[in-house]
Amino acid sequence: MMSSNQQGEIAKGLEGVVAAETKIGFVDGINGRLVYRGYNIEDLVEKSNFEEVAYLLIYGKLPTLTDFKQFKDNLNLKAGISEDLFSIISKTTQKSHPMSALRTAVSYQGAFDPLSSNSDLKSQEKMGLSIMGSFPSIVAAINRSIKGEGRVVSKSTDYVEKFLEESFGRKPSDFEKEVMRVALIIHADHGMNASTFASMVTISTLSDMYSAVTSAVSSLKGPLHGGANEKSLEMLEKIGSPKNAEKVISEMLEKKEKIMGFGHRVYKVYDPRAKILKVYAKQLAEKTGHKDLFDTAEEVEKVMVSKLGSKGIFPNVDFYSGIVYKSLGFDSKIFTPIFALARISGWFARSFEYLHDNRLFRPRSLYKGEVGPLKYLPINERKQ
Ligand code: CMC
Repeated sequence: MMSSNQQGEIAKGLEGVVAAETKIGFVDGINGRLVYRGYNIEDLVEKSNFEEVAYLLIYGKLPTLTDFKQFKDNLNLKAGISEDLFSIISKTTQKSHPMSALRTAVSYQGAFDPLSSNSDLKSQEKMGLSIMGSFPSIVAAINRSIKGEGRVVSKSTDYVEKFLEESFGRKPSDFEKEVMRVALIIHADHGMNASTFASMVTISTLSDMYSAVTSAVSSLKGPLHGGANEKSLEMLEKIGSPKNAEKVISEMLEKKEKIMGFGHRVYKVYDPRAKILKVYAKQLAEKTGHKDLFDTAEEVEKVMVSKLGSKGIFPNVDFYSGIVYKSLGFDSKIFTPIFALARISGWFARSFEYLHDNRLFRPRSLYKGEVGPLKYLPINERKQ
């Protein structure tokens, strides 16, 4: 017989469990809205920039000119990363997954920041700002290392421009900057997803922000969270042409295969982020000779919506982001680190918010094992 503290309902994967209060962001899955601090993402995409959106998520309001200048100074984007860190990233990327390189880079920085022994709010904020300020250079370093290229240092203090310039080793065009700005804004925060939750669990122990972000990066690495856009692009490339879409998708659905880039646990209507990215995917694909890829995607969307739209299955953000990043010239291996380049703002904002009214995360598991007490046998008396 179980004692009372061994009973309880299991919410597998914590599905449906409300574990924290937030004022940062709202994913409205019924009406297809994504809201940051009361602002629709469409409005922010049209009028704002990534740093301003990050400020909004972290501090709860749009910055004044003075706030913004101070925030940019605190991010200290100009500083970039050290040669040592570039070399560590380069070595790690040659041996392992780019997300392992990102995880190692965050952890390495934490090991050398004396603040990481502190857990007070001011220190956590300072650590969050320095991690975020280093992300454009870290992700760009991973991008270059994947291709075996050396370090590029940009003196730009613009988050998007610095990332693109250090990635490509040239000044990005205004259109490239615009597309990347939009992609980062729409990926900045998205409810209590696995990586955000991981960062919150870690910070709730009063650990430091480097550890929280390392936890978040580790959980974003998994294909169930960060990697669907890579798979979706692979599928589109395999389909090859709009005329093959109907046949291939029908066969996949008959075999009960999931079509990557469709469906969402929260959105049961068109993902608002996918709507925004589709417009850019079309323009970019046309400009860069990937029109066939976009046309194939559009045909796949038509087939999927006609077959599964009634079940609430529509394109999600990952369906068009692969085309966008590929058309910008990125290898699919860097797609998940680019996701992190945006989501660092959400991880930082939500961990920092949680710390203001902290309570250690400590759920229970339902024990289904032997309750005993069993008789302990010395090792030499145990049967094989
Ligand atoms: N392709 C084909 N069928 C699907 C798909 C899909 N992509 N998604 C859901 N379904 C079907 C599913 O087979 C099930 O059918 P039935 O009722 O006959 O059993 C029904 O729709 C409900 O599916 P579910 O898996 O229970 O739905 P869910 O809300 O738990 O799953 C999901 C959401 C994202 C895990 C799922 O849609 C999926 O695996 N999609 C493909 C992977 C993908 O694109 N992931 C990126 C998500 S967006 C990233 C982000 O927001 O961070």
